[in-house]
Amino acid sequence: MTETIGIIGAGNIGSQLARKAVELGYDVVISNSRGPESLAELVRELGPRARAATPAEAAGAADFAVVTIPLKAYRTVPAAPLDGKVVIDTVNYYWERDGHIEALDRGEATTSGLLQEHLSGAKVAKGFNHIAAAQITTDGTPAGTEDRRALATASDFPEAAALVTRLYDEFGFDTVNIGPLSESWRVERDRPAYVARQNKQELQANLAKAPRTI
Ligand SMILES: NC(=O)c1ccc[n+]([C@@H]2O[C@H](COP(=O)([O-])OP(=O)(O)OC[C@H]3O[C@@H](n4cnc5c(N)ncnc54)[C@H](OP(=O)(O)O)[C@@H]3O)[C@@H](O)[C@H]2O)c1
Repeated sequence: MTETIGIIGAGNIGSQLARKAVELGYDVVISNSRGPESLAELVRELGPRARAATPAEAAGAADFAVVTIPLKAYRTVPAAPLDGKVVIDTVNYYWERDGHIEALDRGEATTSGLLQEHLSGAKVAKGFNHIAAAQITTDGTPAGTEDRRALATASDFPEAAALVTRLYDEFGFDTVNIGPLSESWRVERDRPAYVARQNKQELQANLAKAPRTI
């Protein structure tokens, strides 16, 4: 049966994930803050597998969801329709855009951990946060390709990390599983692994040498 991905956020990353997802045969329900009408052009481009909706409708229709919005808006993500579902979190912390969040500045929290707290009934997994949007549709290669690019995930739920691993592979990337969300700071902004093109070994090495605060 065709799986439906509910995407909350339709900017650089949301639109790119949608493009690759429909190419792979997923159905996509995509949403933003301004409403479905503002996504008419994108949905036309994406074709019959995609439709635009509100964030709550996208969350409700999702077999699994992606949250890809500025961090400052994470508390607006509708929680109830995501209960029990895997939620892939691409969000990064840019204090210049998001305002300062002390627990992040002090190294006492993680961006994905904050989203997991808000979506307490969902299974949050970090994903697609350290690849430039344009490369999502261009950098993937088949499994087994020499020097294949690898991306990291982290989750408190093994089944969520497994889903991201499957999706990464379909998109053309190897996976490094960092472990629980409490370790996901290793792939946050400005760490060695952030947006660099790395194969699996290089990514593992960069995650290992990441500093807790920057
Ligand atoms: N750009 C990259 O290469 C890249 C790479 C990795 C990770 N990231 C991270 O991924 C996230 C998305 O990045 P982006 O570059 O795609 O951002 P973007 O181009 O600015 O797009 C943000 C999207 O989020 C939507 N949005 C904002 N507030 C919302 C809300 N309350 N409810 C629903 N949708 C909302 C916006 O909709 P409206 O336009 O209608 O407000 C827009 O569609 C950010 O946290 C970013 O740091 C970005």
